[in-house]
Amino acid sequence: MPPTEGTAPSRRDARALLALACQAAEAAAEVIRAAEPRRANLDWREKSPVDFVTEVDVLAEARAIEVLSAAEPNAMFLAEESASAAPSPLPSALRFVIDPLDGTTNFLHGLPEYAVSIGVEVDGVLTAGVVLHVPRNECFTAALGAGAWLGDTRLRVSNAASPQRALMGTGFPFKRPEDIPQYIGQISRVMAGTSGVRRAGSASVDLTSVASGRLDGFWETYLSPWDVAAGILMIREAGGVCTDAEGRDSQVTFGSVVAGNAVMHRWLLDQLQDG
Ligand code: IPD
Ligand code: CA
Ligand code: CA
Repeated sequence: MPPTEGTAPSRRDARALLALACQAAEAAAEVIRAAEPRRANLDWREKSPVDFVTEVDVLAEARAIEVLSAAEPNAMFLAEESASAAPSPLPSALRFVIDPLDGTTNFLHGLPEYAVSIGVEVDGVLTAGVVLHVPRNECFTAALGAGAWLGDTRLRVSNAASPQRALMGTGFPFKRPEDIPQYIGQISRVMAGTSGVRRAGSASVDLTSVASGRLDGFWETYLSPWDVAAGILMIREAGGVCTDAEGRDSQVTFGSVVAGNAVMHRWLLDQLQDG
């Protein structure tokens, strides 16, 4: 956890909410870790032809919600595996946006790139976020106005100033084949203009990689609110820029995401505009 900074009430609230979100992420991660030895025997269910869910996703989500609702009984939840469940009857200022296992396909293959991601909104404002990379046991956190952190290390986006030496991250439009032709144009331009492109398979991890300067930029043509809620705040608090492909400030919603330091973000946006 980052060192204590400032005493303004909003700052304290953000930090308390972050601590709670971390507790819930850790509880979900315990479910995932316990299932790792038997991943070969898990049942996969297809939400769509290339979108899988296992009992682990469902149990991890239930565990996170259990921890959060014990502390905040009136909170609302937007959680991937229960997104279609009936909305809470009580409108609340507090909403947790949860991806209990971001990188399910990696998890199922034993590829160690997956995370629990929890974003916290207060009155619609992203206030805290945690991305817990389970195999590396790296806990990335951000609180509004208090920075983005990996443990006790403050995160900053990279200072890359030209694309030639930049390393970019991306996600493929594997659930939306209709987007592939346009995406091929995008990735061709980015590959030709940079020193490399990586595809980790976990969007929340990708966003932490940009926030920590491991990647200079990232884009994906279509993501869900639970993929990005925590990561958007992390990028902003690390001094970066996070928008949609049209350059509008990112919202916790469905759609494209483009992230990076200001220069790399602008460069990426230009590559995506070219058809
Ligand atoms: C997926 C991962 C992946 C991204 C997909 C997401 P899931 O999340 O973040 O990197 O390309 O669009 O749906 O299904 O593993 O939680
Ligand atoms: Ca996800
Ligand atoms: Ca997921």
